[in-house]
Amino acid sequence: MKGIILAGGLGTRLSPLTKITNKHLLPLYDKPMIFYPIQTLVNAGIEDILIVTGGNNAGDFLRLLGNGKEFGLKGLQYAYQECEGGIAEALSLAEHFAEGERIIVMLGDNIIEGAIAGAVKDFRRQKGGAKILLKEVDNPQDYGVAEIKGNRVVHIVEKPKDPVSNYAVIGIYMYDNTVFDIVRTLKPSGRGELEITDVNNVYIERGRMTYDILKGWWADAGASIDRLLKVNMLVYESGANKTDLVQKRKNPASKHTPARR
Ligand code: DAU
Repeated sequence: MKGIILAGGLGTRLSPLTKITNKHLLPLYDKPMIFYPIQTLVNAGIEDILIVTGGNNAGDFLRLLGNGKEFGLKGLQYAYQECEGGIAEALSLAEHFAEGERIIVMLGDNIIEGAIAGAVKDFRRQKGGAKILLKEVDNPQDYGVAEIKGNRVVHIVEKPKDPVSNYAVIGIYMYDNTVFDIVRTLKPSGRGELEITDVNNVYIERGRMTYDILKGWWADAGASIDRLLKVNMLVYESGANKTDLVQKRKNPASKHTPARR
């Protein structure tokens, strides 16, 4: 199973910070944001990752991450998204990289406290289709929102005015290789993007979607400057484990006591 991290887009909600760099290169406590999704995938057993980025600072990813050796990756590749055509359009650039394998896609600004190894393991056993992760939130209108009936997600609505539930669809998606055919059938949404929610709804309509509820906190660090600040604090407070995971430091445990929430 291969990993894809989407790190394109303009990051306008974080302007002026993003005028001179890519959102995913901004600091989250002691590391660039992009380190966290990479580590999440590595911890789930993913060894090959493609980073899709764009804009004027794409070369900085290469300077920062090189061939991914620091993360113990077998391979780290890059793709360039020429315009901000949406999450699903960015994903379409990964078809060649996927080589027919199943994929796990993670949005580069989504940061989680815990691990997804269990969900990935379950998806490896699943007979194709797709799997998404949900999290109960106070502000579902800011996200893709899942309508759940029994043990099934029956529909997802992107940023609804009147959400039918508090379950946000977080930016970690697992797909079989039919995802690229599905993306080819999409039409741009009202905001002119190919939406990942439309991809997920196709899997739901085909009865090929499963879901898990994510444990631990989840944050979309790119949503606003305030959110970026809050996520910095979350990472700081629970930081010993994250820091330790990404880079071996001399004595991370002595610096911060991990706070469970
Ligand atoms: O954070 C979870 C939410 O992410 C989901 O609940 C929504 O269903 C999903 O649409 C998405 O919503 P956002 O509006 O927050 O997505 P955003 O435009 O911030 O893009 C998320 C990431 O995707 C961002 O870190 C960069 C990447 N991206 C985005 C676009 C539009 C690309 O690589 N290329 C793009 O063209």
